[in-house]
Amino acid sequence: KENRKKQNSYYDINRRAGRCFYDNLVQRKNEALDYLIKRGLTIKTIRSFGLGYALNGWNHLMNYLIKEGFKKEDIEKSGLIVENKQKDGHYDRFRNRIMFPIFDIRGNVIGFGGRVLDDSLPKYLNSPETSYFNKREVLYGLHIARKHAENKQGILVEGYMDVIILHQYGFKNTIATLGTSLTKDHAMLLKRYFNEVVICFDGDKAGTKATLRSIEILQNVDIDIKVIILPENIDPDDFINKNGKTAFEEKIQHALSFIDYKIYLSEQKYGSGSLEDQVKFGKAIAAIIKEIKSPIEQEAYIKKIEEKFHISKDAILREIYGRKTNVN
Ligand code: GTP
Ligand code: MN
Ligand code: MN
Ligand code: MN
Ligand code: MN
Repeated sequence: KENRKKQNSYYDINRRAGRCFYDNLVQRKNEALDYLIKRGLTIKTIRSFGLGYALNGWNHLMNYLIKEGFKKEDIEKSGLIVENKQKDGHYDRFRNRIMFPIFDIRGNVIGFGGRVLDDSLPKYLNSPETSYFNKREVLYGLHIARKHAENKQGILVEGYMDVIILHQYGFKNTIATLGTSLTKDHAMLLKRYFNEVVICFDGDKAGTKATLRSIEILQNVDIDIKVIILPENIDPDDFINKNGKTAFEEKIQHALSFIDYKIYLSEQKYGSGSLEDQVKFGKAIAAIIKEIKSPIEQEAYIKKIEEKFHISKDAILREIYGRKTNVN
């Protein structure tokens, strides 16, 4: 019973805090709302994600929650206030930040992400982890996306803003990790709701690296994997604001299989045309083909490669299995 009470207070405090942040955003005149509108969000979207604003003071939220009847020690446990170094007081963790409530699958608020309004660092700050809030098993947007998995396809992006803007454009099957790399727990969660995951990370080096890592993790739970490649230094939020809904729909339609994605990356890497690079490219291709378990799928890709890159089936197979093995 004690446990149940504590649990309620954790969720209640976070929910109440979310209400306070939301009111700050929509009822007071400040630059936070202008910022979100400028980034293309509608009031309806702001409401449905419960976005808010943490005022630029040291005790605003704490005073609000105490007035609401919560105990300081419980508020501290939620991570929303922090004890100061002299230990004679507490201050709000989130100050002058746009607030993104993080929901669990049932819609409880289990924490927050907070973004600065300018270029200062850290760009995002999250609630500390607790027994209710474990970043390794939370997917932002899943409490909504799970209800929009009609075709059993989920779109996996990097950031809060990517999720929110894609939902606004109608892609309500979009989810993100909380800026951490995808874990086995995330993958199992995805598998529970989706048959296929379309990875659509930022068009930069970090995004490519994260895509390759995520492919490996997702392969372990046996879910179909597709990949969208975005232009250099563009993320899904930038892309859809710039190019619109139809362009993103086309991106989804033409999403690559992860094999084609890996081939594409090798092409980028060794596309110079020099003999040396041609050899490296061929070897890279062979390594990719080797990973394919189904012989029929392997054969299909080899055919495609023969036509597109003029590397013979024979060479690929001998590269993979050695000269002496008679595969066909
Ligand atoms: P915007 O600049 O607002 O469009 O954010 P973004 O989502 O495009 O940012 P970015 O691609 O840099 O980061 C992707 C995600 O990683 C964010 O949505 C956060 O969840 C997380 N993240 C980014 N920067 C930080 C940081 O400084 N600290 C923490 N804890 N997380 C971060
Ligand atoms: Mn204390
Ligand atoms: Mn990024
Ligand atoms: Mn980004
Ligand atoms: Mn962005």
